[in-house]
Amino acid sequence: MTEQTVRRAVICGSGSALPKRVVSNAELATTVDTTDEWIVERSGIRQRYIAGEGETTSTLAIEAATKACEAAGFDPASIDLIVLATATPDHTFPATATQVQHALGAHGGIAFDVAAVCSGFLYALGVADSMLKTGMARRALVIGAETFSRILDWEDRTTCVLFGDGAGAIVLEAQEFAADDATAPGVIATRLHADGRYKDMLLVDGGPSTTGTVGKLRMKGREVFRHAVVNLATVLQEVLTDAELTAADIDWVVPHQANARILDATARKLGLDPAKVVVTVDRHANTSAASVPLAFDVAIRDGRIKAGDLVMFEAMGGGFTWGATLARI
Ligand code: UT7
Repeated sequence: MTEQTVRRAVICGSGSALPKRVVSNAELATTVDTTDEWIVERSGIRQRYIAGEGETTSTLAIEAATKACEAAGFDPASIDLIVLATATPDHTFPATATQVQHALGAHGGIAFDVAAVCSGFLYALGVADSMLKTGMARRALVIGAETFSRILDWEDRTTCVLFGDGAGAIVLEAQEFAADDATAPGVIATRLHADGRYKDMLLVDGGPSTTGTVGKLRMKGREVFRHAVVNLATVLQEVLTDAELTAADIDWVVPHQANARILDATARKLGLDPAKVVVTVDRHANTSAASVPLAFDVAIRDGRIKAGDLVMFEAMGGGFTWGATLARI
């Protein structure tokens, strides 16, 4: 009798990249009407990294992707799928993913960008997982990379203090496991959602087909906050139900890093131990699609997340879009 097997997308390595320049809250307070106390109390952010000359979404993505391949021990040329999540591409087209592919010397495979703003990494991971499971590719890079500093209104204190630049990447490989192996690594369950009724709560007020300009980020922060807590708690529960697990089974939550108070409120709603939540918003601020893989790479490299751990990724952002993925490392 032949053994039943399942194909899973296994996370084999991670990497990240940050611009050279760190900007503290105190430095921002010299140019906009704000204080370090207000920013820390309302968001948990203490500093952010801001891209300088020569640093772009693609340069950060290439650095993160190279480190992820190194961590996995993969020849970058063996990558046959690159899905890059960004709302701040180098160019309107071609996709930034193709520039990463070129830099890695991985010509001829699949490479494209995904636009789901702060949930972009979750969407990109969902797409890559599906493509690996169906055999369209064997080794995938999933990248979140952003230079949000270039779409901020630096005179709007309600938004410019909240965001930063950076990139994170993971490499996944399709591997076969016995169908009844409950401890096999890989992506276990994913749920993604969008609701376009909420466009005006968080958007960039420009674009190629409307104004012909890049535009600036606009956000109704209080409303986004309220929806984020409800939507994230709901989608996390959906994924746990799909996986037939409970919050107590999760070893680590790697959330989108928008606001420390959202992380606390979501953990409380689910009855999750806050010590299991990876928090990097204090040092990275909100890096949109980059925030989840950046936080994951930090927790992998400092030894918190280990092989065998059950990790929940989650995010919510403009659209609205939101989602969660459960994976065993
Ligand atoms: O990544 C996508 C998802 N994004 C998010 O999840 C962001 C969600 N929202 C948030 O994180 C929070 O709503 C914020 C951090 C954006 C704001 O915190 P808040 O507690 O909701 O503050 P608020 O917007 O209600 O503003 C309170 C006050 C206002 O003054 P008044 O109207 O009460 O007099 C603001 O004008 O704080 C004022 N304010 C500031 N004061 C000092 C707003 N920004 C600043 C600032 N410095 N930078």
